[in-house]
Amino acid sequence: MADPSKRLEGNVEGDFFVDSTCRNMDICRQIAPENFTYWNDYAVVGKQPEGDKELRQSLQAVLCCPYGSVGTVNKANLVEVMQDFPLQIDNEVYFCGFNSPKTSGGNCYFVRHKSGNWLFNTPKYQAQLVKRLEELGGVANIFISHRDDAGEAEKFASHFEAKRIIHRHEAEAQPGAEIILSETEAYQYQPDFFLIPAPGHTEGHMMMLYKDKYLFSGDSLYYDRKESRLQIWSPLWTWYSYEEQTMSMEKLLGKSFEWVLPSHGQRVFLSKEEMKAQVEAAIDRAWSEPDPEAASPERVAILESYAGELSELNQPEYAKLIQAKADWLRTLIK
Ligand SMILES: [Fe+2]
Repeated sequence: MADPSKRLEGNVEGDFFVDSTCRNMDICRQIAPENFTYWNDYAVVGKQPEGDKELRQSLQAVLCCPYGSVGTVNKANLVEVMQDFPLQIDNEVYFCGFNSPKTSGGNCYFVRHKSGNWLFNTPKYQAQLVKRLEELGGVANIFISHRDDAGEAEKFASHFEAKRIIHRHEAEAQPGAEIILSETEAYQYQPDFFLIPAPGHTEGHMMMLYKDKYLFSGDSLYYDRKESRLQIWSPLWTWYSYEEQTMSMEKLLGKSFEWVLPSHGQRVFLSKEEMKAQVEAAIDRAWSEPDPEAASPERVAILESYAGELSELNQPEYAKLIQAKADWLRTLIK
């Protein structure tokens, strides 16, 4: 829970606040867009909630901040609000909430399906959420989009006897995974579930298209609220290959869908026609701005910090690869 003594100056007066432990992962702004806003490199409360809807969303934001940086002076309703999760987005597709620091606060999704339910990446292993997932029929499959988002997959798999699905290039992060994929092209995994290997952010990064309607995009494609358009991930955050990431996005050109549900970043619903046009435009922009920051000191620093994190996460081989890339980029800086 956030600490009132660390309350950021940028918050407006009132019950809700963000403290200085905030890492600006954007989740509060996605959940309670009327109340949370930007301030320097942080999120803050820009307007205290008014009315039931804003109050509920702001309380949900308290529960979803992975770093416990969002707080409220009046905590009375938090236990009741826990029951909101997973939060229905559309039909049988839900947002799990309880974003985990182990996935840098990635958004996780739950899909109810007659052949067995799916988790797309994993939230905190939180008792109330686990109970609700049990009531909704449990979890049969856990799709891990890439190594950064393995999170607490092992605990969920063990509790629900679920199968963890991960690409072989990411398997170092989840060595006990039940299903390790090696495909490089998109394919139908089972009825309604289409898997799309999409190297870029990491080598074995994958997306999932459900019912030709919902694209779970992992760390590759999100909705940029400021520009009001779909956006492919910046080269700054592309650990493996920015160019391959753009090629991976081209796999979407022949597909049709209406939702983009990213791990990091804003989700969006658009008509199929609008979605297609925006995907095409995002790809055009990515090709016309090929890796403009490839050899910047900032990117070298980010890669080095990530290599350090990977070492701590017991992924030494990948840490070496990322460090080698940082060393190579440093030689290119003019
Ligand atoms: Fe990631």
